[in-house]
Amino acid sequence: MSLADTHMQTEYALERVIRRLEEAWCPPPVPEVDAYGYRPLPLPVLLAGIDALREQSIDPGAQFVDLGCGLGRTLLCMWAFGYSKLRGVEIMPQFAAIASGLVPVADIQIGDADTADVSDAQVIYSYRPFKDTGLAEVYTKNLIDRTKRGQLLWVPQVQPAGLCEHVGGYVYRRT
Ligand SMILES: C[S@@+](CC[C@H](N)C(=O)[O-])C[C@H]1O[C@@H](n2cnc3c(N)ncnc32)[C@H](O)[C@@H]1O
Repeated sequence: MSLADTHMQTEYALERVIRRLEEAWCPPPVPEVDAYGYRPLPLPVLLAGIDALREQSIDPGAQFVDLGCGLGRTLLCMWAFGYSKLRGVEIMPQFAAIASGLVPVADIQIGDADTADVSDAQVIYSYRPFKDTGLAEVYTKNLIDRTKRGQLLWVPQVQPAGLCEHVGGYVYRRT
């Protein structure tokens, strides 16, 4: 087995532990709402994104925004990796309340990811606020239109078309 395979196994094992903790702490089912729902980003994908940010020398003091932060799992992981300027935007008040309790250092706002102000963010992360592929594409295009050159977009659901260069692990730099 290669070292990469071993890492992958460790990550998936960790993923299972985290899921069990989440279930114990926040009993399922977490409600799925028409066009969107809560599903945390798989840990291996998250770690690949964090690697990509490191390769881009993103300072842990940079403003990180999670659009559709759900229960705050990604914000919690970012905090664990040393990122301290964290903001989450979530449309479901009950999810936002849980995220606030889980990551007290983060500024959690109840709001719409489609119109949230991202002008101060160095990294804008958004994972699957819309499960419908068509809605997700419109959302991503709208997001790109609201960002400025140099900002990093970490969008594990759809591949942004145009105005972005891929830097690794679903992370794109706005050109
Ligand atoms: C797939 S979960 C992502 C959770 C978290 N970001 C993560 O990566 O672990 C998508 C979240 O987006 C939220 N959401 C859906 N539409 C939204 C909108 N228009 N504005 C803000 N949040 C939204 C959902 O309530 C859900 O919590």
